[in-house]
Amino acid sequence: MMRRKLVAGNWKMHGGLTQNAGLLDAVRDGMASMPDVDCAVCVPFPYLAQAQQKLSGSNVKWGAQDVHQSDKGAFTGEVSAAMLRDFGCSYVIVGHSERRAYYGESSHLVAEKFMAAQKAGLTPILCVGETLEQREGGVTEAIVAEQLDALIQLAGVQALRNAVVAYEPVWAIGTGKTATSAQAQEVHTFIRRRVASHDGQIASGLCILYGGSVKANNAAELFAMPDIDGGLIGGAALVADEFLAICRAGQI
Ligand code: 13P
Repeated sequence: MMRRKLVAGNWKMHGGLTQNAGLLDAVRDGMASMPDVDCAVCVPFPYLAQAQQKLSGSNVKWGAQDVHQSDKGAFTGEVSAAMLRDFGCSYVIVGHSERRAYYGESSHLVAEKFMAAQKAGLTPILCVGETLEQREGGVTEAIVAEQLDALIQLAGVQALRNAVVAYEPVWAIGTGKTATSAQAQEVHTFIRRRVASHDGQIASGLCILYGGSVKANNAAELFAMPDIDGGLIGGAALVADEFLAICRAGQI
């Protein structure tokens, strides 16, 4: 099955109004000549309005990096999925390894966030991936399976019909150490097979991104793998030319 590539930027806690303006303009203008690839930027909450203002009507979508699992309530400092919709978000990242590691987010909580996002009409990007210690201990598949199964158990496999999964090996994030295309493909195949054990059609349509030190010079090789449907880009998403070059590598 031929799946369109998606290249999504995760800005993490970077940027500022002035800096973002130039970056958003450049990405929007650059993407105007790339109709064959889907593109999105996931910005910090305060800049959603700016992303909406800059990107509305373009072929670049935008989103957030986290969401609360409840619709509303007394949760000081939190942001709901409906609020993200108010600012035109299409996507929201859930379960990024930084949230799991620094804020103790469990796979169950991540699954709840995923469901809240979907209920509000957002496309969740579910991040999964192992640490170096886990990889070296030979438990990569067990870890990824636990992260994926928590969602399937809570929401059913149907939840993956309008969703994105991002395989992000923790040891490759921000380290300059990319998984080889073969290493990434191996885990992507594992994810697709695991979903296929529940529903083959959903599995073959599922968009599975790779994230972890994707750069302009390694994107094409990664994207050429049959089960890699694009990338979730951290550092390289902050440099317009680099990010656009990665998008270009995703063109069919
Ligand atoms: P880097 O591309 O900076 O390694 O970050 C990847 C990532 O965590 C995207 O969510």
